[in-house]
Amino acid sequence: MTQGNRAGSIAAQLRARIEQLAVGARLPGVRALSQEYRASAATITAALAELTALGLVRTEPGRGTFVLDRSLAREPDFSWQTQALGGARVDPDRASRLGGYGGADHLPLSWGYLAPELLPAEDLQRLASRAAKHPRAWAMTPPAGSPELRRVLAASYRADPGEVIVTPGGQQALVFAMRTLAEPGATLITESPAYPGALIAAQSAGLRLAPVPTDADGILVDRLEDELRRTGARLISLQPGFANPTGATLSPERRARVLELAAQYGAFIIEDDWARHLGIESPTPAPLFTAAPDGHVVSILTLSKPASPGLRLGAIVARGPAAARLRASRTAEDLGVAPLIQEVALGLLTSSAWPRHLARLAPALAARRDALLTALRESLPQARISAPPRGGLHLWARLPLDTDTDALSAAADAAGVLVGNGRHFFVDEPPAPHLRFSFGAGTPAQFAEGARRLGALLPR
Ligand SMILES: Cc1ncc(COP(=O)(O)O)c(C=O)c1O
Repeated sequence: MTQGNRAGSIAAQLRARIEQLAVGARLPGVRALSQEYRASAATITAALAELTALGLVRTEPGRGTFVLDRSLAREPDFSWQTQALGGARVDPDRASRLGGYGGADHLPLSWGYLAPELLPAEDLQRLASRAAKHPRAWAMTPPAGSPELRRVLAASYRADPGEVIVTPGGQQALVFAMRTLAEPGATLITESPAYPGALIAAQSAGLRLAPVPTDADGILVDRLEDELRRTGARLISLQPGFANPTGATLSPERRARVLELAAQYGAFIIEDDWARHLGIESPTPAPLFTAAPDGHVVSILTLSKPASPGLRLGAIVARGPAAARLRASRTAEDLGVAPLIQEVALGLLTSSAWPRHLARLAPALAARRDALLTALRESLPQARISAPPRGGLHLWARLPLDTDTDALSAAADAAGVLVGNGRHFFVDEPPAPHLRFSFGAGTPAQFAEGARRLGALLPR
């Protein structure tokens, strides 16, 4: 999480306040502002930097921050850009809730990565200093990635190492696969609700979205067939294991049917396999890729979730001419992921620290999932929670029909609680109000306090 949004909102509040102050007036110091806005010194400093960049204040070291003459500050005119750019492709509201959002002061009741204390941080630090000494870390790798790392990543997919393309994270792999496997204007069928990052990836690739509903066993296969027939789509986006946001896993019968449909309609399935190492009671089912010898499945994997979001390392696994196109396109846009990062990932995946980390992670996630469920049951009895997931990071909560989740998530944000606005997980109108909760980022105490603050915002 970053201070970004919070600093921006404090900057806006300070801006309104400055309007009322005389030129030369002194703003309260950073410590006083920190207390007043209940924000860290770093967040206040970032807010003041924003105002400085706008020419509204000047900071004099040791003296303080002073209001400048606004009549001298020329507001830039960007109106020409909106005309030049035409319509926006990516929905900025949905995009603003991905990656580094929220502040250090927020209680993370929705956040798609692990808490720092659950990461193998010491192992990563040790492996990073060792990797930095290896000459391979400072030489170019082939654009598709280091052969050693590709060999290790290929194993879970029973793939040939040549079928793996290393990418800077799962999100880049998603947008890159969508862009390469379909022309702009083509239709992507997506499960619904879906990971908002997949929706904005499709928007960025210029694809039309056709949502197909899911239930506790994953995508509804009859509805998927309807949509394949109706749209002629050749691209389907799925999370077969512990989906974000519902936690659902595609049932064995539906897995078989989805693969049959892909073969019958000549379609690709982009399998977002982000939860590969996040099984709790049961392991994540084998990738669909392993059951698709004719290349109907293109898998996306990421180490952001089980290892560290800061690693920014993922991969695409694909076979056939699609793989050749993906390799060629990858070179067109990027000559490779930083070799140092690839060395660190290789070091981690091949060291005894990796199975040790995963063995510790599963019970830790189970305890946090149960603590989140308890907190929500106690403080948010209005919410109907989907079946507790047996893996992944997320829970999906249905709220009373008259709940406005835009207003509720904004109020939660202001009360220092991060929740996932259910609307962002649907392509168009949500069928009902939902919130997404996550159990990997917060502590039981944070879940209890966050749920209590959230409960106070909802009528009982
Ligand atoms: C379902 C899903 N897929 C992919 C990603 C991409 O993650 P990253 O780019 O950090 O690998 C995320 C991150 O939130 C996710 O939730």
